[in-house]
Amino acid sequence: MMYSDYVGIFDSGVGGVSVLREIVKVLPRENILYFGDAKNAPYGDRPQEEIAQISLANADYLFNKGVKALVIACNTATSSAADIIRKKYPDKIVIGIEPAIKPAVEEHPGENILVMATTGTLKLGKFQQRMNELRDQANLISIPCPGLMDLIEQEDLQNPEIMDLLEKYIGEYRGQTRAVVMGCTHYPFVEPQIRSILGDIDVYNGASGEARELAHQLEERGLLSASENPDIIFESSDGRTETTDFYRRMLNI
Ligand code: DGL
Repeated sequence: MMYSDYVGIFDSGVGGVSVLREIVKVLPRENILYFGDAKNAPYGDRPQEEIAQISLANADYLFNKGVKALVIACNTATSSAADIIRKKYPDKIVIGIEPAIKPAVEEHPGENILVMATTGTLKLGKFQQRMNELRDQANLISIPCPGLMDLIEQEDLQNPEIMDLLEKYIGEYRGQTRAVVMGCTHYPFVEPQIRSILGDIDVYNGASGEARELAHQLEERGLLSASENPDIIFESSDGRTETTDFYRRMLNI
């Protein structure tokens, strides 16, 4: 089957489903092919060259299936590989996710703003450059969260280990911050736990911006779908139906 009227999305796992949720809101008539690269996860602990190589292989896989647009629903993969993928596919729509640091800074000037992301993302030049551009406007505090994505992938969001790990990473900022940037697409799934630790905070997430950019580029090229019964297909590189069932569940909650 060729997927020429589908949008291809990939992430290292379930994280991209937090982006998919936004895409479904903005573009409810699009057919979607979602690919979670569980076999190679987590990306965030790998060297940049490896993340780039794996991400390019995912792009090849989805474009070989004929998708009309590619959404990189992963901050780590976007920072390491979006330029490389665009270079290889100059005529295709390739949308990356931008961490929503700017709106956080605009609404919380001069304050402490937590930027939670994978170790890989926070190390990357591109991400650091964006942080540096805004650094004089607010106190941006990088919080690498190794292990958090892995716990979310265990399919039990009530696992107390999630709370324990979050407490370790952000507990010291209780009462010290009113803004958190989700720099990894997995973290919105534990937003309630983050809020329960930090209290009254604004959460900034690049997913809705990415969905709007997709809508804009599809419209510009006359590629919007009008499917009456849009199809959402989930695939995982680990080949387990339990994994794709988990992705589907997370879309629907
Ligand atoms: N969901 C991913 C992100 O947005 C990465 C998680 C990982 O594979 O480490 O960065």
